[in-house]
Amino acid sequence: MKEIQKTFTPLVIFLTLVMTIGLTLQACAYEDDDDDDEGFSRFLPARMDFRPADDPQYREECGACHLAYPPGMLPARSWQRIMSGLEDHFGENAELDAQTARHITEYLSANAADRSHTGRAPNIARSLGVDAPLRFTETRYFLRKHHEIPPRLVVNNPDVESFSRCEACHTGAERGDYDEHQVRIPGVGRWDD
Ligand code: HEC
Ligand code: HEC
Repeated sequence: MKEIQKTFTPLVIFLTLVMTIGLTLQACAYEDDDDDDEGFSRFLPARMDFRPADDPQYREECGACHLAYPPGMLPARSWQRIMSGLEDHFGENAELDAQTARHITEYLSANAADRSHTGRAPNIARSLGVDAPLRFTETRYFLRKHHEIPPRLVVNNPDVESFSRCEACHTGAERGDYDEHQVRIPGVGRWDD
């Protein structure tokens, strides 16, 4: 009996230590998470921060000049504002025929941040309150996630130029994966903060 205790006591102490260290590390990993939509999704096989844009007409028309943005990035009232001002769309003419415009407006509205339960959509909707921004990149939600990135890596970087070009840095943007560990800023490489 004594012999068994001699061998087992150190083992129990060792296992307890390993478990404590493991739990502490896990807690640290989520320490800087400021919203509750981040931790759990890391354990899912295919991470989805946003449901990717899947409507063929939307992808074709609104993916011609930039990424076909995920509808869950803005609330329905923002999409409606954007869709009703396409003749002067950030300095470009992006006008569509009435039927296509109606279809796209319906698609965007139905899957908007305030109508979707996927990924970050609910938190984005909550953070906006009643605002109807035309840009996700000017929302507090976005700025909070990107405030550590200096302008020289974006506006002064010919391979990026604008924060609106999500896919320039987020290698999984098309899949709706915006995990910070998948970020590669052109000319900088892996992002380690
Ligand atoms: C003719 C080119 C063109 C087309 C077509 C186009 N856009 Fe844009 N869009 C732009 C430009 C230019 C910007 C500003 C990009 C920048 O600031 O770098 C922009 C920005 C945006 C933004 C703001 C992104 C941010 O900064 O958060 C949204 C949202 C958007 N477009 C939605 C749409 C939708 C919806 C459609 C389809 C109806 C569409 N766009 C079609 C040129 C276009
Ligand atoms: C210049 C490169 C760059 C561009 C362009 C960019 N991002 Fe990011 N993004 C980053 C980096 C770097 C981080 C991680 C920041 C940190 O952890 O400090 C990040 C973080 C995020 C996060 C949080 C991810 C996480 O794991 O917490 C989201 C969501 C996000 N970006 C969405 C977008 C969207 C949507 C766009 C386009 C409208 C965009 N980003 C454009 C570089 C970029």
